[in-house]
Amino acid sequence: MSTKRNPSTPLSTNKQLLAWVEQTVALCQPDRVHWVDGSQEENDALCAELVAAGTYIKLNEKLWPGCYYAKSDPGDVARVEERTFICSKKKEDAGPTNYWADPEEMKTKLRGLYKGCMKGRTMYVLPFSMGPIGSPISQIGVELTDSAYVVTNMRIMTRMSSKVFELIDKGMFFVQCIHSVGAPLAPGQKDSTWPCNKEKYITHYPETREIWSFGSGYGGNALLGKKCFALRIASNMARDEGWLAEHMLILGVEDPKGNKTYVSAAFPSACGKTNFAMLIPPSNFKGWKVWTVGDDIAWIKPGKDGRLYAINPEAGFFGVAPGTSLKTNPNAIYSLQKNTIFTNVALTPDGGVWWEGMTDEAPAELTDWQGKKWTPAIAKETGAKAAHPNARFTAPASQCPTIDPAWENPEGVPISAFIFGGRRPTTMPLVFQSFNWSHGVYLGATMGSEMTAAAAGTIGQVRRDPMAMLPFCGYNVSDYFAHWLSMQKRGLKLPSIFHVNWFRKTADGKFMWPGYGDNMRVLKWIVDRVSGNAAAVETPIGFVPNYEDMEWAGLEFTKADFEQVMAFDKDAWANEVVSQEEFFFKLRDRLPKQLLNERQSLVNRL
Ligand code: GTP
Ligand code: SPV
Ligand code: MN
Repeated sequence: MSTKRNPSTPLSTNKQLLAWVEQTVALCQPDRVHWVDGSQEENDALCAELVAAGTYIKLNEKLWPGCYYAKSDPGDVARVEERTFICSKKKEDAGPTNYWADPEEMKTKLRGLYKGCMKGRTMYVLPFSMGPIGSPISQIGVELTDSAYVVTNMRIMTRMSSKVFELIDKGMFFVQCIHSVGAPLAPGQKDSTWPCNKEKYITHYPETREIWSFGSGYGGNALLGKKCFALRIASNMARDEGWLAEHMLILGVEDPKGNKTYVSAAFPSACGKTNFAMLIPPSNFKGWKVWTVGDDIAWIKPGKDGRLYAINPEAGFFGVAPGTSLKTNPNAIYSLQKNTIFTNVALTPDGGVWWEGMTDEAPAELTDWQGKKWTPAIAKETGAKAAHPNARFTAPASQCPTIDPAWENPEGVPISAFIFGGRRPTTMPLVFQSFNWSHGVYLGATMGSEMTAAAAGTIGQVRRDPMAMLPFCGYNVSDYFAHWLSMQKRGLKLPSIFHVNWFRKTADGKFMWPGYGDNMRVLKWIVDRVSGNAAAVETPIGFVPNYEDMEWAGLEFTKADFEQVMAFDKDAWANEVVSQEEFFFKLRDRLPKQLLNERQSLVNRL
């Protein structure tokens, strides 16, 4: 019989790590410390504790093997952008698009909040790797958290393993992450099923590569390997070291001859990355297949041959549940059928889950994401949603049927095209290609999109979201553009850049484009352009396909439909250019001249 490990015994001998753990214990005063080893037994025990505490409900093992359900506090359902800070020494280094605070002032404030904040709780010392453990592109971190929910989610989303402690013991640099839900317990006090604090701070220290988070248990606020590390901190590492950390999916397109072309696409939160990454081509596309490398984040580095190579630093999908169905995204459904954690979806009476859009017809009765009885009749009357619009599934990437054989290749996959796109009800055509790299960077820099439920705020309003990085760029966005432009000067073989819009609407508010699997038609044109096998017309905004240049077999989409979704509206573009200018004006201090020149050329062409 194996003797049970005492979880409070440190799994590392690294002095810096031990001292930091000790200091955090002294500050946060948890009842106990648990060094996480990432094992299955440990995970089972944590899930059992979460079930006992009422945070998790174990789903019907026959229908949903290994799956758990959680519902959050109604005030803790999404990222909180106005509570997210880049604490660089100088304000200019955070730039005009980030919330900034002085690092020492912020740390002083947080030390006040952290004081005794883990009382009555366990502090987990959670080791994780972003990217395969030991890969030269990977980075490691340790998250000190008082949330077992976070530990079980991070086990799916990252490589969480005691092997990371071995790397730290060998002297490898690690990112220090502190997370507390900010809800200490008095002796004997009954815990809430979703502890959190009204006051929230998601703070980043780019110079020291630290992350301090307080008050939220949800998603990117709490799973610190994701947006905080893999984007906000990693974008700083990338700038310093000559690579890119991007809010991008990565997919491979295989043609009938077996050639594979990898592309990476940046769409803002809840704008279709997971769906695009798992696309299933329409049945008329015989021999075509899309392979999934990642659905949210790409770390992209120049290879020895001068091409850009991308890895997915994550190990799981934290995907938007509503709208995910066997019709829209079967690969996501297959990925989440087992070993998955569901947050803020609805519960079915037989111990399963449901969300809007999962099936055409809603079940007769559900328990909604707030624990209330929900029926289609109630919904009709009150408009109550069964699932929160930002309800998510946390599923292992390895369970995706189309996961690319190279998805864990430490060298990454070679990228042939970058695609930018957002939710644009007007103005932006289905697809166009940039004239060159600098014009492509301009397209990314001026990207716009309607805001979604992925962040607390005004839904539906179009805002500038450069490269889908507005909430995630960990430094001055003008410097970020300069960094993108600088790729050009390094003699690299850079990808072609495209812009897409799946979300253009008719005057009566209907999507003009069927989207989802039919996005393959656009993807094929992009891949064919890259290999020199597709024609295009030059227009003021870029190269666009003719109706004949795209594959239409299996879809009734007339030339008139195509002209509508591709329409160039002069007045709309005049407004667009003015709105881009407003954004650039905000960035005027450091905006690269090259982008102003791009803007002037666009105005001249228009
Ligand atoms: P984050 O995880 O927040 O970064 O989101 P994401 O970019 O991965 O978005 P996701 O693929 O989860 O899609 C978000 C929502 O957009 C879902 O409700 C989808 O059903 C919907 N969606 C995705 N692709 C399309 C499309 O091609 N057309 C339309 N109309 N909706 C889409
Ligand atoms: C996003 O908002 O872009 C997400 C979800 O991918 S979260 O992890 O909460 O940031
Ligand atoms: Mn995202």
